[in-house]
Amino acid sequence: MPASSRPKVFVARILPEDGLRPVVEACDARVWEGELPPSRDELLAAVEGCDGVLALLTDRVDDEFLDRAGPQLKVVSNFAVGFDNIDVPACTRRGIPVGNTPGVLTETTADLAWALLMAAARRVAEGDRYVRAGRWRTWGPMLLLGPDVHGSTLGLVGFGRIGQALARRAMGFGMTILYHDVRRAEAAIETAYGATYVPLETLLARSDYVSLHVNLTSETRHLMNAERLRIMNPSAVLVNTSRGPVVDQRALYEALRHGVIFAAALDVTDPEPMASDDPLLTLENCLVVPHIASASRATRGKMAAMAAANLLAGVRGERLPTPVNPEVYELHEGR
Ligand code: GLV
Repeated sequence: MPASSRPKVFVARILPEDGLRPVVEACDARVWEGELPPSRDELLAAVEGCDGVLALLTDRVDDEFLDRAGPQLKVVSNFAVGFDNIDVPACTRRGIPVGNTPGVLTETTADLAWALLMAAARRVAEGDRYVRAGRWRTWGPMLLLGPDVHGSTLGLVGFGRIGQALARRAMGFGMTILYHDVRRAEAAIETAYGATYVPLETLLARSDYVSLHVNLTSETRHLMNAERLRIMNPSAVLVNTSRGPVVDQRALYEALRHGVIFAAALDVTDPEPMASDDPLLTLENCLVVPHIASASRATRGKMAAMAAANLLAGVRGERLPTPVNPEVYELHEGR
């Protein structure tokens, strides 16, 4: 197809080949090749006149973005399952479907949540630092003690795909599973996991491990604040693989520093990247990794293929395979 008749798209970062190839083959595509995301000005300039945009969670899609892109914009495809970077109602109002990548990263994300839970409990990163600092002098009966994981109680805040995948891992460790969610799961799901629905405060009070699996919304921002952290056990571990702002980081710092909880492990922070002089990084009992929960080669390939499929369907005027705002098709028939 000659370049002029091909849909014009912007891809906001170099993606795994499985996603990039079909887009570059079918579209007049500009790919942002920087290691860092485009600045706001660069992003707004790049999307001008585009039929489709493949965005990352670092790119804010709002009315200003949509105005600059122009009325021909047919799709925004997010390379992530979360989409709090996108003003979805604004897209829906304009008849623009938004795609995400659900399902393919569930198990990989749960793997990392599990790794964080284990590592924070058994002080793996701290132990590694201890050895590298030349502090390991002998086998110590009291050295780097932590809580057991097996046989303990796991509290899942959010019991969707990823929360349930973590529950499957916890079952292998003989854990008792509590969960809280805005909607109670079907009885068959509760039975399959031996999971008990409890109010959030009960979950916090009874769990040895609390793992967060909620979307970031105005209701979940700072869900884990000072008051709720205080309900947790002094021996408890908090794991966050959802979104940074779900935890009030100042409150977390105080809680970790004063032994209100035993440890925290964060894949996500507020803001991202976390500043290298963030007070949390001075604490031995806070483990932080740079938002890598879905970062397995296979999963990132699948996410890329899925984001590309959403983008290509959108620019062709077809229904996206995984729209986050399917109501757009009823509101704007024929689009
Ligand atoms: C990653 O955080 C995602 O939402 O896919």
